[in-house]
Amino acid sequence: MQVDLLIHSARQLVTCASPVGPKRGEAMRDVGLIEDGALAIAGETIEACGKSDELRAAYRAAQTLDATDKVICPGFVDCHTHLVFAGDRIDEFELRIKGATYLEIMAAGGGIATTVRATREAPMEQLVEGARRRLDRMFRRGTTTAECKSGYGLDTRTELKLMRVLDVLEHIHPIDLVPTFLGAHAVPPEYAGRPDDYVDLVIGEMAPAVAEWFGASHFVPEGVPFFADAFCEQSAFDSKQSRRVLEACAALGMRPKVHADEFTELGGVDVALALGATSVDHLDATGAEAIRRIAASDTVAVVLPVVNFNLGGTHFANARGLIDAGAALALSTDYNPGSSPCPSLPMTMAIACRYLRLLPAEALNAVTINAAHALALGDRTGSLEVGKRADVLIVGAPDYRHLSYNFGVNLIERVVKRGRVVTL
Ligand code: NIG
Ligand code: FE
Repeated sequence: MQVDLLIHSARQLVTCASPVGPKRGEAMRDVGLIEDGALAIAGETIEACGKSDELRAAYRAAQTLDATDKVICPGFVDCHTHLVFAGDRIDEFELRIKGATYLEIMAAGGGIATTVRATREAPMEQLVEGARRRLDRMFRRGTTTAECKSGYGLDTRTELKLMRVLDVLEHIHPIDLVPTFLGAHAVPPEYAGRPDDYVDLVIGEMAPAVAEWFGASHFVPEGVPFFADAFCEQSAFDSKQSRRVLEACAALGMRPKVHADEFTELGGVDVALALGATSVDHLDATGAEAIRRIAASDTVAVVLPVVNFNLGGTHFANARGLIDAGAALALSTDYNPGSSPCPSLPMTMAIACRYLRLLPAEALNAVTINAAHALALGDRTGSLEVGKRADVLIVGAPDYRHLSYNFGVNLIERVVKRGRVVTL
């Protein structure tokens, strides 16, 4: 049979396949390893996956890639990013080095508000260009699908501008994007001390406007889901306010996600579970009882260890406890200018293995199949299975564990996106 692309002779092909939903518990240690593996791709789709000799006998290909001594694995899914923003937070980086904390800087009118000021002023072209450069960096490090949150506008005009930036980027960049409305990211300065009034604005004006934008965007014909998120935290939104926002957004067709327990266990997990959120993210301060409840739910637990590393902390989310309790665990960069200026999922895996005591297999499943489920895209990407999108990486190492073992080096040699070998 004729196909478009055959990648063959890989020392290891790791499928991360999981036909039954996200991986949990023991299954996290299984990457679906095939030695001397090959992959046949027709158009944008995986046609076959198996042993090299069998696939080479069965398929004739327009293009072949030899992966001798290398690893083939699924393209990474970065399921939690704040990609579109202007400016940087280098001054706050220095303040933190000198001893200020993230929450202190935020309470003093810096932090997210600093980026909001810059983002409101930035013309759309500048935001597109900045985000495009960041997407390039992610792509070269193996990310083939990325969620992108708004949340640096915090007024209707700028939140809509951020959404339109995503629509442009989806056209011009090979990474598949998934939009999330994060109007409830922080209380903007003009609403200081009046968070409930700001929540009214999000519910009454902003959410309907972005829902209308989404309906007319080309994400709809592509079947891409639309999410809403809220930052449930001190100096941001309490659990009642977060719930109000997410319920209103759900009524407009957005699926809930929650920033929960990043610094304070404030009830964000309860909100996420009560609303059947697709994911609940951060979980740094989450206790044992809440971990058990997450594990018993369908909500994916997204842990973001680059944030702890970047903020110089020694405390990390209990990802080990989440996996051992049976939760569906995913890892993500949280790429943003304040708490995680990092485009790299391999770096995220390296930190997770060292400080969260994940095995390299668990870390890989957490940035592929489980991260795809954190975006409700587990049926389309995140693993090398017949019929799925051909999002594939060729890794310049003979064993998949090198992806977590090495750091500060980029082992990704080739990225195949929707069946096309793309070099950026
Ligand atoms: O996920 N926690 C809230 N939002 C981001 C940080 C955003 C920022 O600092 O600009 C986060 O860590
Ligand atoms: Fe975040």
